[in-house]
Amino acid sequence: MAHVDLEARIPNNVDLGADRRLQRALERWQPAYLDWWRSMGPEGFQEHEIYLRTAVDVGAKGWAHFDHVKMPDYRWGIFLAPPEAGRVIPFGDHYGEPAWQEVPGELRNTLRRIVVTQGDTEPASVEQQRRLGATAPSGYDLRNLFQVNVEEGRHLWAMVYLLHSYFGRDGREEAEMLLERRSGDADRPRILGAFNEPISTWLDFFMFTMFTDRDGKYQLLCLAESGFDPLARTCRFMLTEEAHHMFVGETGIQRIVERTAELMRQDPNEDARAAGGIDLEMIQRYLNFWFAHSLDLFGGEVSTNAANYFASGIKGRPYEDRYTDHVALEGTCPVERYEDGSVRRDDVPTRLALNEEVRDQYVADCQRGVDKWNRSLERAGLSFRFALPSRRFERHIGTWAAVHATPGGELISADAWDAGRDEWLPTDADRAWLTELAGPGRSAPDQMASWIASPKRGIDGKPAQFDYIRS
Ligand SMILES: [Fe+2]
Ligand SMILES: [Fe+2]
Repeated sequence: MAHVDLEARIPNNVDLGADRRLQRALERWQPAYLDWWRSMGPEGFQEHEIYLRTAVDVGAKGWAHFDHVKMPDYRWGIFLAPPEAGRVIPFGDHYGEPAWQEVPGELRNTLRRIVVTQGDTEPASVEQQRRLGATAPSGYDLRNLFQVNVEEGRHLWAMVYLLHSYFGRDGREEAEMLLERRSGDADRPRILGAFNEPISTWLDFFMFTMFTDRDGKYQLLCLAESGFDPLARTCRFMLTEEAHHMFVGETGIQRIVERTAELMRQDPNEDARAAGGIDLEMIQRYLNFWFAHSLDLFGGEVSTNAANYFASGIKGRPYEDRYTDHVALEGTCPVERYEDGSVRRDDVPTRLALNEEVRDQYVADCQRGVDKWNRSLERAGLSFRFALPSRRFERHIGTWAAVHATPGGELISADAWDAGRDEWLPTDADRAWLTELAGPGRSAPDQMASWIASPKRGIDGKPAQFDYIRS
């Protein structure tokens, strides 16, 4: 395995020192990245010392090193999963051929677009979350937010490394543009819709890390199969970091639900809000919003792009080794679509239905998390249950973008949608209420907001009340 060079200006396990041109190009990009981080990264905490995990090795255990560091001093580096000797392309028309160590010329533009689109989401989420420190429920949560943020920064590095190493001048230009677009900016927005939505409250943040980071997991799983080996290895290592982001989201909501249940029991009218908590209906509205917007990220139901990516060996299916047919030229998948005023269910050739196939796996994964939250409600003796909205609900990409539907999936008129909207999606009043409830942010070890339960355990074997944030 490649030696891990931690002393270099850019820590890496790709033997960067051996390629002076590449090293110099990345060292020129580094100050621009740091400028971006200082101006668009977490607001108000750049000089604080945060108890962060830094990658120091890609081995099973050694890669997680914890210490108090100032975020701008975080050692953003380039880490790829170890190469697999004799790796072959695991799917598509080139199934079984040796994986590519360089970009095949005819796939160059497509691959670059995929790397740029993935790369763009990473700084976008940091921008979306940059003001959350001002309303943090606790030092533990604040530390988790910053851990997510620095790792999204590292994921940007991962994609920029690919752009610089394998895509020449175009790649270098794209790397610069990754620092120029801004989440939510009207003139130069981030590429994908969900990454331009504001994350202004912690309820948004936990839903984002639960649902939108989980989309990230599935995109990375597809790319981890890529015939372009450096991309596959990069994504495999990113997945190890992504797991923590989803943990933050899933357990964050779990803790809110537990606290809400507790407050409901204390209040004579089971009114969580009256007791300083977040009511279950509001949690469901935020769930609806972020789940629906994350579903959009998987693309259209029937997609020739997805078919072409698969055929050419660029982007596969999650856990390709669980399939028996890696070529997928035969067979069909049932796909539901809205066409000519009605809902149709057609059998679509497998390759054309790949987006829907990955979306199915994602939905099942989300359902598992929602079931956990519901078990908390059940244990608390409450009858309310959370539900994932139908995939027809509040969509902006794909076939369902053309219609209005209830969370239950019933197609409705525009008027009925307007009448129901505030019941189904977060409202301005919700946002105002959450902001008021949050009050000023907390970061001291003994503080925890009223609306969320303490975590069962802290980070890295430390107690929940550890001094994760030092000023
Ligand atoms: Fe990421
Ligand atoms: Fe993430």
